[in-house]
Amino acid sequence: MPRLHVNIDHVATLRQARRESQPDPVAAAVLCELAGANGITVHLREDRRHIQDRDLRILKETVKTTLNMELALTEEMIGIAMEIAPDEVCVVPEKREELTTEGGLDAAANLSSLEREVPRLREAGMLVSIFVNPDPNAIEAAAKCSADFIELHTGCYANAKGLEKENELKRLETSARYAHELGLRVNAGHGLDYDNVQAVAALPFIEELNIGHSIVSHAVMVGLDSAVREMQDRILSAESSEE
Ligand code: PXP
Repeated sequence: MPRLHVNIDHVATLRQARRESQPDPVAAAVLCELAGANGITVHLREDRRHIQDRDLRILKETVKTTLNMELALTEEMIGIAMEIAPDEVCVVPEKREELTTEGGLDAAANLSSLEREVPRLREAGMLVSIFVNPDPNAIEAAAKCSADFIELHTGCYANAKGLEKENELKRLETSARYAHELGLRVNAGHGLDYDNVQAVAALPFIEELNIGHSIVSHAVMVGLDSAVREMQDRILSAESSEE
C-alpha cells in the first residue's frame, strides 16, 4: 500500500492569515508523524503565501520520516533546495494567481531545464519527482531527464463524476503502468480525500500519496491525530489491484 505523506501547507495558511506564530507547521509535522504519517510535504511558493523559508529549515532538522519539498523550477528555489537538501523534491508548475497547483508540469516543454537541474539535485542526494498530468508525453519527458519519480496529478480524477471518474482512474492506472515500464517510480496526489483515496491507493505501482487540504480541513474538526489516522486507515484498507 502507498505511504502517506501529509502536506502541511494549510497549517501555515492559517498562521499567515494573521502573520502570527500559530498554528505552527513544525508542531503539526510532529503530530502527523506521531499519528503514523510516513512523510511530510511542504510547498515553498515563490510568493511565500503559506510555508516560509524558516519553516523549511526547521523541518529539515525535526522531521524524522521523509521531508518532501515541492518547488517551482526557478533558480531561487533550486538554490534553496540545494542548501537545505530535503530528502525529496517534487518539481511543480507555479502561477502566482492560482489558488493551488492547477495542473502537472509540462515536462516536455521544460525538458532542457529539467535535464540541467534534475541531475544536480540528484547528485546532491535528493530524490527527484516531477508532478505531471497522466499524459504519456509528460511521463516520457520525466524519464528523459532521469527523475526518480513522477507524481501523478489526481485533480481531474478527484473532480470528475460518474463515468468520467472511471475514465480518469483508468488514465491514472495506464500512466502508472507506463511510468513503471520506463523505469520511473510513481507517486500521486492532489484533491485526494477520505472518499476518493481508496481507488487511487489501490492502483498498481503507486508508492506515495501526498495529501494536504482534506486532512488539514478534517483536523480542524477532529484534531490532527485523528485526521491522519483516519486517512492512514483508508489507505491501508484499500484493496490493491495486481501489479
Ligand atoms: N501534490 C502536489 C504536487 C501538490 O502541489 C499538492 C498541493 O500543494 C498536493 C499534492 C496536495 O494537494 P491537496 O492539498 O489537494 O491534497
